[in-house]
Amino acid sequence: MIRLAIPSIGEDDLIAVRDTIASGYLVQGARVAAFEKAIAEYIGTPHAIAVSNCTCALHLALLALDVKPGDACAVTAYSWISTANVIELCGARAVFVDVEPGTFNMSPGQLAKVLEEEKVKAVLPVHTFGQMADMGVIQNLCASHCVPVIEDAACALGASLHGRQAGTCGDIGCFSFHPRKALTTGEGGLLTTRDDTLAKKLRALRNHGLDPASSTPDFILPGHNYRLTEFQAAFGAAQLAKFPRILSARKAGAAQYDSLLASTPLTAPARMTGGEHTFQSYVTLLPEEAAPRRADIIRTARERGVEVQVGTIHMPLTTYYRQRYGYKPGDFPVTDDMAARSLTLPLFEGITSAEQQQVVDTVLALIA
Ligand SMILES: Cc1ncc(COP(=O)(O)O)c(C=O)c1O
Repeated sequence: MIRLAIPSIGEDDLIAVRDTIASGYLVQGARVAAFEKAIAEYIGTPHAIAVSNCTCALHLALLALDVKPGDACAVTAYSWISTANVIELCGARAVFVDVEPGTFNMSPGQLAKVLEEEKVKAVLPVHTFGQMADMGVIQNLCASHCVPVIEDAACALGASLHGRQAGTCGDIGCFSFHPRKALTTGEGGLLTTRDDTLAKKLRALRNHGLDPASSTPDFILPGHNYRLTEFQAAFGAAQLAKFPRILSARKAGAAQYDSLLASTPLTAPARMTGGEHTFQSYVTLLPEEAAPRRADIIRTARERGVEVQVGTIHMPLTTYYRQRYGYKPGDFPVTDDMAARSLTLPLFEGITSAEQQQVVDTVLALIA
């Protein structure tokens, strides 16, 4: 089976995890601090705060920005479900924003309409599949409405747009280290911010509300236990050391797919000019006429040894959001189209040209 994703795990990762477990220091400590420092330097941000996963990171970002029951938060319509769920978990309301064709990212034009129509407490653009949303425009819009921005950069460690790294544009950035991401710690996540006050609040929120600056235990707000373990942090540090190699392999694989797909009915992912895409996923679009057969295409491709998958989730059309807010097809027409036609192809460091050819041949045969 040509798998959809395989994490880049080597002897260095195994040694780092083994040595840490053998040390007996298992929960948030010196290795978490070192991993945070290394990521902060890599991204170019003063504060990096490691947490258990990106869903926790997004949740804490909303809590740190005082999102409360009754508030509304604008969020892209096409993303992994946790980007919207965390809003609802705060008792707030997710107000969805349609995406742009091809890049799958939040449409600044649609966001402008939402911001004109209602007061939102925060805006959550997503750097979908590892390509940054149009942050310059989104930031300006949000600044003009005095609304803070939380970047969902779950898939976008190492992505940039016009020289700005993912996680450095908004008030808070949130990253995931799930095994489908280019850098993994198994489960794992991290927040970035330039704001000292937010950083202190986030550090407290992830650790029971413990004041990170106090020498005797003191609790400054009710917090969660959203800590990362020491062995995950050691794993993450080992991954970060070889991250440039991992990223360049993914980019090379993506370029190879681009050339294999040229002049075929399968559409390659669109690129933002001036951007560096990390290709957390290489997501193509099926021709319209093949979209109704996508489930069959996915199943048959797997039977033939090629693991393909849909892109991500049309969140407003999932049962919870449909039933709660009455969303229906047509409310987010671009998301309707992207969600119906997306098809993710296998991509990981080490995929061979022959395997990529086999992936493309298999899919093309099935859509013919
Ligand atoms: C865009 C996006 N946001 C949030 C998440 C949640 O990340 P985690 O699994 O680390 O909680 C994911 C995970 O795939 C994601 O793709």
